[in-house]
Amino acid sequence: MRVYDIIAKKRDGQKLSLEEIKFIINGYVKDLIPDYQVAALLMAIYFQGLDKEETAHLTKVMTNSGDTIDLSEIEGLKVDKHSTGGVGDTTTIILAPLVAAGGIPVAKMSGRGLGHTGGTIDKLESIPGFITTLEKKDFIKQVNQINVAVIGQSGNLVPADKKIYALRDVTATVNSIPLIASSIMSKKIAAGADRILLDVKMGNGAFVEDLTQAKELAKTMVDIGNSFGKKTVAIISNMNQPLGEAIGNSLEIIEAIETLKGKGPQDLTQLCLELAGQMFFLGGKAKDYVQGLKLAEKLLYSGEALQKLKELISWQEGNVDVLENYSLLPLGQYTGILKSREAGYISNINSKLLGSIAMELGGGREKKDDPIDYGVGLLVKKKIGDYLEVGDPIVEVIANHENDFERVKNKLLAAFEFSPNIIPKPPLIYEKIY
Ligand code: URA
Ligand code: CA
Repeated sequence: MRVYDIIAKKRDGQKLSLEEIKFIINGYVKDLIPDYQVAALLMAIYFQGLDKEETAHLTKVMTNSGDTIDLSEIEGLKVDKHSTGGVGDTTTIILAPLVAAGGIPVAKMSGRGLGHTGGTIDKLESIPGFITTLEKKDFIKQVNQINVAVIGQSGNLVPADKKIYALRDVTATVNSIPLIASSIMSKKIAAGADRILLDVKMGNGAFVEDLTQAKELAKTMVDIGNSFGKKTVAIISNMNQPLGEAIGNSLEIIEAIETLKGKGPQDLTQLCLELAGQMFFLGGKAKDYVQGLKLAEKLLYSGEALQKLKELISWQEGNVDVLENYSLLPLGQYTGILKSREAGYISNINSKLLGSIAMELGGGREKKDDPIDYGVGLLVKKKIGDYLEVGDPIVEVIANHENDFERVKNKLLAAFEFSPNIIPKPPLIYEKIY
């Protein structure tokens, strides 16, 4: 087999075999094939695509490129949730304890933030003392004892994806549906869950901006999951505005706690209940999604889910007093309030820009090992369709440098567009794909 021939084959729109995909991916992981040849193949895939079978083959080869996690020592059906990435997406911190409280074992491996999106692990680490690395046996033991553990991704999970993603990032080939789908699904499958729920984000804060593309991505991932015998469901949710109010690590922890107290933002609460309802259905705890939703509401409003978060924090050595005393979390010492300079209805919010500003305040990282400031971020007070008078607050900025607010204020304002006409509130969930 020659790499040249495989590149040419895909360039001409022909189908690659499992053997050819294996040859390329394994050779690349072992440094036997240079970046420039894999880059050329990625670009050919970008233009010619991969069919269902090729995408499943690629996912399988990537999954087997490193460690796979065996969760068979945990009893019951393990249901994993994955979001394709958004801004202010606090759902995992709410959902993990919520579905655990309903009897689904949650053995969750999460990522850190990069670029304009945050990561669950960074958010959890803003809780004083909270540890996000556990030995495998302790991870399993914790899930068997309290039904939930959330840790950082193990070092050698899908090394093929780490290498290929880095190459895609610099060769303008990130945005390919079979490449995104196999990247995400290989990591989900390697992480060992039995059932998978995907929250595919659509909008200006996400990888895909329109519904046609989002549906194609969702369908591709659902097909991959099912072809591995892991029942997979996807919902497509709105990322044309940040989820909830908070963007930033400590701020999102507070938001998650408030939501588990039944006092969270409406959109975040609704999305979490929907996702939990689907997870209860997938995990066999409800006969259908409607019954799952009812169970989720009961667990949220009774405080049982909050109690489960307390157990999770306590088992992972975090300070549980944060639940009642938010001042125990790191919080920036300077605040500023951005006020509207015009009257009207908000018609558009540039979520990616808001995510980038939160990062620029210190809440995120540009490079993998940059340090982050847990205490900074934004509270977005108004959403699409809300009406504002001149002088009404739009965003609160929480910072750790005195002049940060002045520095970011005009950029922040540019993230909002106004209209004199009534703007309908956008839907939160567009579609469910089974
Ligand atoms: N998230 C991933 O993990 N991979 C992609 O390719 C895109 C988003
Ligand atoms: Ca949020």
